[in-house]
Amino acid sequence: MEIIEKNIDLQQKLQLLKIEGKSIGFVPTLGALHEGHSNLIRKSKRQSDITVCSIFVNPTQFNDVKDLEKYPRTLDADSALLKGLKTDFLYIPDKNEIYPKGLDTKVHLDFGNLFTVMEGAHRPGHFEGVVQVVKRLLDIVNPDQLYMGQKDFQQFSIIQHMIKMLHIPTELVVIKIKRENHGLAMSSRNERLTKDVRNKAAIIYKTLKAVKRKIKTHDFEFLKSYALKKLAIPDFNPEYFEIVDGNTLQSIHHYSDSNYIVACTAVWAGNVRLIDNIIMKKTV
Ligand code: PAJ
Repeated sequence: MEIIEKNIDLQQKLQLLKIEGKSIGFVPTLGALHEGHSNLIRKSKRQSDITVCSIFVNPTQFNDVKDLEKYPRTLDADSALLKGLKTDFLYIPDKNEIYPKGLDTKVHLDFGNLFTVMEGAHRPGHFEGVVQVVKRLLDIVNPDQLYMGQKDFQQFSIIQHMIKMLHIPTELVVIKIKRENHGLAMSSRNERLTKDVRNKAAIIYKTLKAVKRKIKTHDFEFLKSYALKKLAIPDFNPEYFEIVDGNTLQSIHHYSDSNYIVACTAVWAGNVRLIDNIIMKKTV
């Protein structure tokens, strides 16, 4: 595995590989890697000829300065994990490589309600930062495939929209959620939970599954308040529980209203904010 810090070095190497006809798979991350990230790398290793993973704690997507400061930075362990997975390139740019002075890196595109619902409503500016960094990384890496996790459902929906609207020649591949044994979706943030709260966080996936069992027979308004109640155990504070169309992320009210239905939730567990989702229906 080669560790690269400068855009120009990465671009030169990837250019040569592309001339040889190799496909490039790209896995962007914030680091503090876990098995969820590993699955993205594994998929890229299977599907693309060359796998590039980036680690960049992107300041523009953190709407809370404390969250940015507290974000774990574990480069040595990350690098060992990626090496073990036979990642070809680990790209670790600094801020000046991603946001050089004088370059307008903002994405000027209308995302409509994709930006304003759920995470967008609760984390102002977050998705502006995500599309800004992902667009910049795509411009640098120019991958054939981009691997992202279903864990961040709204995030990949937004990136899919951007790829389509800007005609970016990259295929988005979405990988299903990797969970801990008791059901909690893996996240770098889980490390900040106390042991007790981490155990109790199983309630999130349990609630999503309970709603899924009832989805055909119950009113969606009832299901949303049922879920919010079920999630409100001691130390837990649900921020939202929405049942939406998997393409538009618009709220839906009846099982027959869409072929693609997803339930998404954000829950405060102690002082850590967790998100999760489950696909309720997909017949397309
Ligand atoms: P990060 O949180 O590090 O996640 C990197 C990728 O791993 C994302 O596509 C995310 O959806 C995926 N992922 C995280 N946990 C997962 C799990 N339990 N199962 C499956 N996939 C999982 O998301 C970001 O970084 C950033 O916003 C980024 C896209 C890198 C832009 O800065």
